[in-house]
Amino acid sequence: MAPGHELARFDALRAALGEPVDTIAFARAPGRVNLIGDHTDYQDGFCLPIAIDRDVLVGFRPRADGRVHVTSLDLDARVELPETREIEPWARAVTATLAVVSRHIDRPVPGFDAAVTSTVPIGSGLSSSAAFDVALTIAATTVAGIEFEPTELARAAQEIEQRASGVPCGLMDQLASVGGQRDHALLLDCRSLAITPVAIPAELGVLVVHSGVERALAGSAYAERRAACEAAAARFGVATLRDATIEQAVDDPLARHVVSENARVLAFVDALRSGDAPRAGALMLASHASLRDDFAVSTPELDLLVDLTVAAGAFGARLTGAGFGGCIVALVPSSELARIAAAVVDPYRAGTGREPAAFAVRAVDGAGLVAPS
Ligand code: GLA
Repeated sequence: MAPGHELARFDALRAALGEPVDTIAFARAPGRVNLIGDHTDYQDGFCLPIAIDRDVLVGFRPRADGRVHVTSLDLDARVELPETREIEPWARAVTATLAVVSRHIDRPVPGFDAAVTSTVPIGSGLSSSAAFDVALTIAATTVAGIEFEPTELARAAQEIEQRASGVPCGLMDQLASVGGQRDHALLLDCRSLAITPVAIPAELGVLVVHSGVERALAGSAYAERRAACEAAAARFGVATLRDATIEQAVDDPLARHVVSENARVLAFVDALRSGDAPRAGALMLASHASLRDDFAVSTPELDLLVDLTVAAGAFGARLTGAGFGGCIVALVPSSELARIAAAVVDPYRAGTGREPAAFAVRAVDGAGLVAPS
């Protein structure tokens, strides 16, 4: 049985969609936090995200007239197709979802009503939009009477994200949302698209701290970094930086980050498997330094949060996701998580004038249709 606040979310979706409520189906897609391996996915590299216990929940039901109505409970906004113009990114995500699924089935997606609610903070680097795209794609394919394979679902959601945001994102966020496994991190090989679950020992906790700074300039700076990586790979004569050596990359800070980060992901997995939390933490700190100094995607706020969590007793911490604001992730002793979370808030506020939000996340199963109880 789902806990009370979970049941309340289902009830809110039912209330938005109205009677008859017994014809409503539900799809859930989690957000993600990346433990290590950023700006590697679009270079065929490795990353280690977890699907988290913050998700997008969609209630939906077919309608007979071919129209598609989607209501966002959190944004207090509504898309009615075919009339609504694409103004907000989330409205563009709705039309992109219909376009991608329709191309796949070679006919228009049948009409449906949907209502959406999310517990993934928006603009925080925890992949709220990937979760939205995945959940709505599950709704649209279900209404169309088909089911995407997991990789197909992730790729469809990636295309939706790229179309809706204009950002040439990789596949990490979508693969994590689709492939999540309870109590496990996911080693993603972004070349083969293999997902290898890696158990997170119960004595390790994952703490996320939001800097209170929404990601800014993320779109254009992300696209620039990606293009520069592609140019470096071409200069080195390799398909992607996955194939470059550290010797080739030594004089190119962006490439040096990607090549060294791939090695850190694999070393982190070894550390996790052998229960060596201090080693895993040290690798996270090295990752943060590389993202800050070589890849240049950190901010003073993220740097301060990393310092504060480590000073308070975390094994390690780093910015997570694209950077330019958003969150850090820290690996901490489970028994110390609440104390460490509380310890960073005041000094961070005093140092920046920003309001942080610190919370624990748990690794959960990936996206799919769900029953309310
Ligand atoms: C964003 C993108 C991902 C990935 C990360 C950085 O989250 O959507 O594909 O590139 O940034 O690791």
